[in-house]
Amino acid sequence: MLNFKRSEKLSKDAKQIFIPVINGTVKPGEFSKSLHLDLQEQLAFFAPSDKPIKAGEIYEFPAKVENYSCERIALVSLGNVSDQELRTAGAAIGRKLRGKNEKVFLALTLKSHQYKSLLISANLGNFQWSLKRDQKSANSQVSVPADDGVIKSAQVISDAVNRARELIHTPSNKKNPEWIAKQAKRLANGAKVEVLSGRALKEFGGLLAVGGSSPKPGPRFIKMTYSPRKSGVPHVVLVGKGITYDTGGISLKRPYEIMAPMKSDMAGVATCLAVISALRDLKIEVKVTALLMCAENSISATAQRPSDVIKHYGGKTVEVINTDAEGRLVLADGLAYAVKNLKPDYLIDIATLTGSATLGLGKQFAAMYSRDLKLINQLKEAGEKSGDRVWHMPLVDDYVAALDSDIADLNHTADKYNFNGGSITAALFLEQFVDKATWAHLDIAGVGRAEADAGENPKGGTGWGVRLLLQWIGSLK
Ligand code: BES
Ligand code: MN
Ligand code: ZN
Repeated sequence: MLNFKRSEKLSKDAKQIFIPVINGTVKPGEFSKSLHLDLQEQLAFFAPSDKPIKAGEIYEFPAKVENYSCERIALVSLGNVSDQELRTAGAAIGRKLRGKNEKVFLALTLKSHQYKSLLISANLGNFQWSLKRDQKSANSQVSVPADDGVIKSAQVISDAVNRARELIHTPSNKKNPEWIAKQAKRLANGAKVEVLSGRALKEFGGLLAVGGSSPKPGPRFIKMTYSPRKSGVPHVVLVGKGITYDTGGISLKRPYEIMAPMKSDMAGVATCLAVISALRDLKIEVKVTALLMCAENSISATAQRPSDVIKHYGGKTVEVINTDAEGRLVLADGLAYAVKNLKPDYLIDIATLTGSATLGLGKQFAAMYSRDLKLINQLKEAGEKSGDRVWHMPLVDDYVAALDSDIADLNHTADKYNFNGGSITAALFLEQFVDKATWAHLDIAGVGRAEADAGENPKGGTGWGVRLLLQWIGSLK
C-alpha cells in the first residue's frame, strides 16, 4: 500500500521523483528547479513526435542529483488534468510502485480535489493481493505538497476501498458468514456491531432459505451502527448482499465456468463494511447503519428447492422459482427490517444482483434504480466526483406484473410474461419491500469485479461503491 505524507519541499530522501507533463508540456514547477536537470531534453525522448501523450503514460530515466537521494525521475502525463485523467495517471503511478518499499515524491501542484482523485487512484493501482508463500509486504511512502486534509481523506478513502477488495479476494473456503461477522467486528472502527444467527433469525425467511443450504456455520445478519456525536443528523441505512459463494443452489449455475467468479458475490457487503470502517476517520456527521445479509448459496440436502414458498421478514410470501436468484431473497429481509425498525431517511441497497445489469451498461457504470429525483441526482453527482459512476435505470411499471404468483404474494424471479430486463425486474422485486422509504438500489454485478488487472483495478474484487457512498454520505447535511 501507499502511505501519503505532506511535504512542501522536494524531499531529500526520495528515491524517485514524479514530475507532471500537462497537455504535452513538462511542468517542473518550483520543485524541479533545484534539480538542475534538462527536463525538456528528456521530454523529447518521451514524445519524439508531436503525438499527444495520453494521461497515465510514464517515462522514467535514471538521475543522480547532488544533495538528493534521488535515483530515478519519472515524467508522468496528466493529460489535460480532468478528474478522469488524474485517476488514470494516479493508477499508473500506483502500479509503478507495486511491490516496492520506496520513498517517492510527487512534484505536483494541483487543486485539492485534483490531488484527491490522483492520490486515491494511486493507492488503488498499487493494490495487490495473493496467498503466495513468499509474498512480501510492500509499503511505499509518497510525499506530496498537498494539504493535510486532502492527504488524510485520500488515505482513509483509498485504504477503505482496498479493505473491501481484501474481503472480496479472500477465497470462499475461508470467508463464510461467520468469518464476515468477525471482520465486521475487527474493522468496525467504533461502530456498534450486532450479529444474529441460528434461532434469532427465525423471522428472516429469505436469509434462512438461502443460507440453509450451507448450515455450517449458517447465515448471519450483521448490523453495524455508526453514530456521530451530533444528533438530529440524517440516517442512512445500507443493505448489502453478502453471498459468500453462489453456486446457484439446486438451480446450479451453468456453464460451470461462470461459477468461479462467484466468490465475489459478497461485494455489496464488502462495500458497506468498508464504508462504515472509514466514517469516523472522515469525521462524517451522518448516522449510518449497515445491514450485512450474509449467507452461502450452496447445493446440498438442506438447500431450498424451486417451488418452495418462503415468508420474508414482515410477512410477505414468495414463491421461489430459480434458486440462483438468491440475492433478492436475502436483500428483501434486510430492506423490510430497515423499514420496520430503523426509520431511514435514505435506504440504499448494493448487490451483485443480476448478470443482466452488465448487458447494456458494460462494466464501467453501476445500474442505479430509484424513484426519488433528488437522490438520483445526488448519486449521479457523487459518482462523477468519486469515479464510481452510476447510470439511472427505469423502474418500468408495466413489468410489475412479472412478479405475479398463483400461490404466493410474489414470484421471485419475476419472469412471468417474458418481459426480459432481468436487472429491472429484480429491482421491482426489491421495491416491494421498501414501503415509503426514500430508496435506491445499486446493481453492481458488472462493476464489482474486474476480469483484467488494469488501471485502478486488480483482477477480482474492485471495491466499487466505497468511494461513491463515502462521497455521497459526506455531502449530506
Ligand atoms: N450473483 C449472481 C449475479 C451475477 C452474475 C453477479 C454475474 C456477477 C456476475 C446472481 O445471484 C444470479 O445468479 N442472478 C441470476 C438471476 C436469474 C436466475 C433470475 C442471473 O443474473 O442470471
Ligand atoms: Mn445467483
Ligand atoms: Zn448471487
